[in-house]
Amino acid sequence: MVAECRIATKNVGRINPESIDDYLASGGYEALKKTLQLKPEEIVFAIAKSGLRGRGGAGFSSGMKIKFTGEATCQLLECMRFIVCNADEGEPGTFKDRIIMEGNPHLYIEGMIIAAYAVSAEKGYIYIRGEYTKSIAMTRMALAQARERGFLGSDILKSGYSLNIDLKIGAGSYLCGEELTLLESLEGKRGYPRIKPPYPAEKGLFGQPTLINNVETLAHIPAIIIHGVDWYTRLGSKKSPGTKIFTLSGDVALPGYVEAEMGVTLRELIDQFGGGVSGGKKFKAALLGGAAGTFVPESYLDVHMEYDTLQAKDAVLGSGAVIVMATDKSIREMLNSILRFFQHESCGKCVPCRVGTQQLLILLEQINGARRDKEKAFAEMLRQSEIMAKTSLCPLGQSPILAVKSALTHFSHELYVDMR
Ligand SMILES: Cc1cc2nc3c(=O)[nH]c(=O)nc-3n(C[C@H](O)[C@H](O)[C@H](O)COP(=O)(O)O)c2cc1C
Ligand code: SF4
Repeated sequence: MVAECRIATKNVGRINPESIDDYLASGGYEALKKTLQLKPEEIVFAIAKSGLRGRGGAGFSSGMKIKFTGEATCQLLECMRFIVCNADEGEPGTFKDRIIMEGNPHLYIEGMIIAAYAVSAEKGYIYIRGEYTKSIAMTRMALAQARERGFLGSDILKSGYSLNIDLKIGAGSYLCGEELTLLESLEGKRGYPRIKPPYPAEKGLFGQPTLINNVETLAHIPAIIIHGVDWYTRLGSKKSPGTKIFTLSGDVALPGYVEAEMGVTLRELIDQFGGGVSGGKKFKAALLGGAAGTFVPESYLDVHMEYDTLQAKDAVLGSGAVIVMATDKSIREMLNSILRFFQHESCGKCVPCRVGTQQLLILLEQINGARRDKEKAFAEMLRQSEIMAKTSLCPLGQSPILAVKSALTHFSHELYVDMR
């Protein structure tokens, strides 16, 4: 039996999230106090040594990012560093950040202040999706309490370090969760992506060095500072230490979230924490990572859920979303709703994605209507999504290939037969 292991969801459901005193009584802001006794470089070193990887989806090394941002030279005369927390959480099937923001908001705010100190940021923004009204209210309340107790604002705990954090409410665009698009939106512009490089660490918000991290990533930082790198690296796997919040939905008896060590298997997540496939049905597939994710079949049930193991098997961990499908569910229908989602969320700025998302849907509808040779049509879908992956301007247009390719690899037998 695998046990839950709570770092980012620590104390969720156990303390009153509206009370800073409850947070303080559970050891809250001790990591910040310790941080302020250390040099910023020591915090950067600790995060790098911990092996923490971004929990927003890409799994990029948080240590490298924080190091690059801290070392980046400002390109403008008036130099200012920023920290931005990505709380947009738009990936279908993903609701992990909401759990932290609603259940223990001071934890990620404390992590954000520590990360800000490490890169000497003077100003921070939390970008939250507008639909998350409770997360917004809880975060707003926590920020006010932190300010009142001297954990935020000028001369934090008389350390000489000052930081202000403001909230920005998103307007419901999936693309605005992509870091560079988010920065455009924060600057008050339309949510169109920027070309990378330059990366935010070098030229981010208002052209200044910017550290941008996901809520869950930041929620790991206080524990790393308090318990140390050795403690953290003992959890999870060698290349992906720590824990991950997985959100279980679809045909699972007990939908919800679970935080477990990286490397837990899909079977453990579904059977042990999710209570098995709902209604006593049989497992057919899981969509891992949401719409920008991959279908995996039964043979993946004992694969370890961590970035590199999944990548080696042409699957992704992404945001940690696990959407379970029983045998009575259609892969073709799920693929259809994923492609509709991308068509709807495409910003239209570049041709491969604007036209490609439309064409993928047309092809799938032709197949559903049995108006084409299915095998040929699916080969055309794959070619189309490969072109999109190679030529689209931003990662949104590069994402449909994941679902299309994994559906074809593992479920071609189902896709090619007429299921109507
Ligand atoms: C289309 C798209 C949407 C994204 N949405 C989110 C999101 O809602 N939340 C998030 O944290 N990261 C999202 N990301 C990933 C971010 O671009 C970025 O990698 C992340 O904020 C970095 O933080 P981390 O290093 O802590 O993971 C998205 C990426 C893409 C391409
Ligand atoms: S890939 Fe899609 S979402 Fe990204 S810029 Fe092009 S049209 Fe917009």
